Amino acid sequence: MKNLSKAHQAAKAARKNAYAPYSKFKVGAALLLKNGEIVSGCNVENASYGATVCAERNAFFTAVGKFGKFETQAIVLVTEPEAVPCGLCLQVMAEFCSPNCEIYLGTPKKMGKSVKLKELLTRPFSPEALR
Ligand code: THU
Repeated sequence: MKNLSKAHQAAKAARKNAYAPYSKFKVGAALLLKNGEIVSGCNVENASYGATVCAERNAFFTAVGKFGKFETQAIVLVTEPEAVPCGLCLQVMAEFCSPNCEIYLGTPKKMGKSVKLKELLTRPFSPEALR
């Protein structure tokens, strides 16, 4: 899909801006939204390690700031080597994506294989619990 390869390019470009002086592990994430837009983010670390924010969450929070409401078609990650999203990012994905949303685990060279959100996070904490 043409838009997916655009999202891969966007994730790659975002990864170049990653601020990862401590781990040196650079991450780029791009969200392909159902409105056709692509929103990207990179990881931003901090000397107070716990203040670090992952690429995926930065991308989602940017999308909220930009569009308010949106629907996610797919997520493309770029790391080297390929990696799955952390648990915190999966929980944020569960807030904004359907369980069937595809997450592409890419590297700068390859889009990579996709895995569904529900395969990585089988039972997310859900708003049902708050009712
Ligand atoms: N990181 C992400 O950006 N996304 C993930 O899903 C996992 C980890 C970042 C956080 C930190 O800057 C670096 O990778 C090493 O943990």
